[in-house]
Amino acid sequence: MKAEITVLAGDGIGPEITEHALKVLKAIEKKYDHDFILNDALFGGIAIDETGDPFPEETKDLCKQSDAVLLGAVGGPKWSDPKAKTRPEKGLLDMRSDLGVYANLRQIKTYPQLIDNSPIENSRLEGIDILFVRELIGGIYFGDKERSDDYAKDVCEYSSFEIERIVKVAADLSIKRKNKLTSVDKANVMATSQLWRSVTTSLIESEYPSIEMEHLLVDAATMHLLSRPADFDVIVAENLFGDILTDEASMLTGSIGMIPSASLGDNNFGVYEPIHGSAPDIQGKGLANPCGMILSVAMMLKHSLQLVQESNEIENAVESVLNDGMFTADLSSDHHVSTDEMGTAILTKII
Ligand code: IPM
Ligand code: MN
Repeated sequence: MKAEITVLAGDGIGPEITEHALKVLKAIEKKYDHDFILNDALFGGIAIDETGDPFPEETKDLCKQSDAVLLGAVGGPKWSDPKAKTRPEKGLLDMRSDLGVYANLRQIKTYPQLIDNSPIENSRLEGIDILFVRELIGGIYFGDKERSDDYAKDVCEYSSFEIERIVKVAADLSIKRKNKLTSVDKANVMATSQLWRSVTTSLIESEYPSIEMEHLLVDAATMHLLSRPADFDVIVAENLFGDILTDEASMLTGSIGMIPSASLGDNNFGVYEPIHGSAPDIQGKGLANPCGMILSVAMMLKHSLQLVQESNEIENAVESVLNDGMFTADLSSDHHVSTDEMGTAILTKII
């Protein structure tokens, strides 16, 4: 198949992990005789340096005409001055909103090979496979904001349309899995959460009667994620709650470096990125784990290009390298391999 992919390597460890992800993508292209057209574009801090805008028009146009976007990471101390006119993170939020990618999927799966790496007791970690569906272009992230020296305001808004749209994505995924759906809110305090709960309840009752539905308040959810993580199947949450819960849940797997994500809009379009961020402290040191980025390529092949076999091949290659006992620094406190060694080992399983 032919596909156009925009590549935004971004800042920090973004470029070094993207390099390995692209090698894997090109190996798949060759092996399965596809035609992937890759276009690089500026995004994040590096785009601020060169154009003054973290998400320049040219990048936006390229993203809009492509089938999918691969994103490394953005941000770093160089662009973190609170008084700066703009920040890399602003580019990320503008991109999500402009491209309409409202459904952020983050899968938290424990790898038996990494179980000792998690701060949670091993017996609680077996069989964890949680799919988070985070609403990505609404809520407090995008509401009205005000900021002066002695006053600040962030408004949280949700419409029933936005809630229904994200809960449908979560419900459709959960019927293909264990048919269990947990919705997280703060309905004892927030009006948006009360609407969230009532829209979710009526949608599931009327259109997905087979789903076992559970509602959790977000504070309780943070505890349940640690005390009974293997009970969850699909968890749906608004933007801010989803942001916080997915970082917490990533620790179940032992390292945030392993986790890919897909941000989906309509018509199979998606932005694919690891959830770990730009990690400027380890940039250029060969310590970055390329797995989250490589697995993001696997998600892209599956969700945007419907290339399921190719996607599985990448996931199997990553597992197989872990089985061989190869771990990057985040996965092992004693012996570890470099970013390049890890990337090459995964690549070798494919070609
Ligand atoms: C994420 C990140 C972003 C978010 C930041 C960098 C704006 O934490 O993708 O989870 O809060 O959504
Ligand atoms: Mn986050």
